[in-house]
Amino acid sequence: MTERLTPDEAGLDRAAELLRAGALVAFPTETVYGLGADARDDRAVARIFEAKGRPRFNPLIVHVSSLAEAGELVAIDAAARALAERFWPGPLTLVLPLREGAGIAPLVSAGLVTLAVRVPGAGIARDLLARVGRPVAAPSANPSGRISPTRAEHVLAGLDGRIEAVLDGGPALVGVESTILAPGPDGTRLLRPGGVSAEDAEAVLGAGLLPPDQGVTPSAPGQLASHYAPRGRVRLNAASPEAGETFLGFGPGPAELSPTGDLLSLSPTGDLVEAAARLFHCLQELDAAGAERIAVAPVPETGLGRAINDRLRRAAAPRA
Ligand code: TXA
Ligand code: MG
Repeated sequence: MTERLTPDEAGLDRAAELLRAGALVAFPTETVYGLGADARDDRAVARIFEAKGRPRFNPLIVHVSSLAEAGELVAIDAAARALAERFWPGPLTLVLPLREGAGIAPLVSAGLVTLAVRVPGAGIARDLLARVGRPVAAPSANPSGRISPTRAEHVLAGLDGRIEAVLDGGPALVGVESTILAPGPDGTRLLRPGGVSAEDAEAVLGAGLLPPDQGVTPSAPGQLASHYAPRGRVRLNAASPEAGETFLGFGPGPAELSPTGDLLSLSPTGDLVEAAARLFHCLQELDAAGAERIAVAPVPETGLGRAINDRLRRAAAPRA
């Protein structure tokens, strides 16, 4: 059962308490309803993808309550600061270099070295974020492939029973998603048009926006070729490792330890939520182990397994 909360003191406290405990809570922003989880909790973030039935680990937007809080997570250059000061709180998302030690679950940025952040404009969302006191990862609160919800009823129509709660704040005002901009050394790229117009952003920057795929800084949505892949060559659906291979396990069976003493297994018990939560961490551990050839145990092609296998197939694909 999904709890339906009203945005009064008690409802906001309950929503914040659930988020801090690793639960999924949909909440209204000024653009659309977001499906929130503690951005530092790998398992909670993995459950976002499970609830939405997303066949891919698209990177998520992290919601914070202030520019200062954003600055703890990402490096904010002059262009980003100017945009943030003009449009935050509001329907603008900035993709910026992720700070080391930010503590964001690697699944949030899908292993990218950048992180999408925004300070939402709606009073309820900011109230909630202030109470949670931690960054909250939130994609739009719809099942994968459906349109973004602008009312609590839309959220429940798609996700009832799959999430712990929805905070009902009435209709979202903007109704379209945030504009996504990626400031970089060669200019600012427009990754997704949205609630802030390109003209208004250009007026603040005093320069035109670049198209998504231009320039040297990474990755537009849908074109995330620079997604993290381990350095070693990857062989999938391996029952066991061959000589010279490092094995990444799933479920019962052989499992090795990484040099940092971490178990090289996506999930020893065969739990797909745990496997999704550990996926990018394990890929990084394989690099740390200096693995040149990697064998990966089979992962079932069901539920979250589809997104896990999508990522593993891309890790195994020939590199340019
Ligand atoms: O208005 C909004 O932005 C809503 C509310 C809930 O805040 N959220 C939303 O999230 O639309 P979602 O997950 O549906 O869309 C997020 C977009 C995706 O297209 C994703 O690829 C892109 O942001 N994105 C996230 N992190 C990125 C990154 N590091 N680099 C490039 N694109 C990124
Ligand atoms: Mg969406």
